[in-house]
Amino acid sequence: MNTVIYSTSDKDIEKAAKVIACGGLVAFPTETVYGLGADAFDPEAAKKAYAAKGRPSDNPLIVHIAKFEDLERLTPVFDAAENGGKKAELCARVKKLAEAFWPGPLTVVLPKRNEVPKETTGGLDTVAVRMPSSEPTLKLIECSGTLVSGPSANLSGKPSPTCWQHVQEDLGGRIDGIIAGDPCVGGIESTVLDVRTMTILRPGLITPEMIAAVTGKDVSYDKALFEKPSEDPDFHPMAPGQKYRHYAPKAEMHVVPEEKIMDRYMEERAKGKKVGCIVRPDAKTFFAMLREYDEEGVDIILASALPEGDSLSFSIMNRVLKSAGYNIED
Ligand code: TXA
Ligand code: MG
Repeated sequence: MNTVIYSTSDKDIEKAAKVIACGGLVAFPTETVYGLGADAFDPEAAKKAYAAKGRPSDNPLIVHIAKFEDLERLTPVFDAAENGGKKAELCARVKKLAEAFWPGPLTVVLPKRNEVPKETTGGLDTVAVRMPSSEPTLKLIECSGTLVSGPSANLSGKPSPTCWQHVQEDLGGRIDGIIAGDPCVGGIESTVLDVRTMTILRPGLITPEMIAAVTGKDVSYDKALFEKPSEDPDFHPMAPGQKYRHYAPKAEMHVVPEEKIMDRYMEERAKGKKVGCIVRPDAKTFFAMLREYDEEGVDIILASALPEGDSLSFSIMNRVLKSAGYNIED
């Protein structure tokens, strides 16, 4: 398959939107990572996205919207919300979150409408939704006439793509097109929040403190985020994606206390190894550095552990630990 590279001109965005409307796959920029766009209401398009990524089909997709009203096409929670009670409270909470954080890196999980196919939601009765802040992508969604599901546009298991060239490396020849927008400023995927229980299923740049400040509600982390992930049937994270090995570079990777990283570097060098170091990993550059070290063909990557107790560091360490397959040195 020839993968067309689209610019962010209006004309190209219109062409790309047509491809999505016709059931094709086009990767798009966002402020977090690049996404692999497909028509969220088309089960066949969802199947194609899973196949292109090599992703297990029980791992649900996030649906991207361009305006708040689009949310009503995906979830029934706003139907007759004026009847009061619990539902009205949930609606008010969603509205507050949207006002504070959309467009931006927050994904909300809500009950889904029947029209949202199970293929898009990995068989779940809920749907994950966010409004990204990249202008070309908002235009893409508007022009498509539908809503756009978008997993990260990497091959399953590889680091998430933070520029369009990463998408081309992984999915070139496997998808219809890529919108060559700006590199991503955020660098890690959105925070996923189940708004019904106020539980964070995947940590990101929007922290529990930020969410609590806006809603006045206590926010907790899914306790599975504190465990070493496994595909064991007894391991049940609420975001199915959390159970898979993720973001893995080709090189072996170790997480090392910061004060030991120089010594460890010298030790590995003395063994004749080509070593890559990531000192104080940060959200914006972490995934790109993994890809760069892979390209350089390093044998081992040493990343320093960030201090515990800070929510943003917790989000970054979630990616670092997964990338390293929980290979932690003390
Ligand atoms: O920043 C992002 O969120 C990026 C950009 C492209 O928007 N997208 C992204 O999608 O990271 P993906 O598919 O790589 O990750 C989606 C995560 C997975 O961990 C999945 O299990 C979880 O969200 N998820 C999706 N729908 C869910 C649902 N209904 N309930 C619980 N978790 C859900
Ligand atoms: Mg992903």
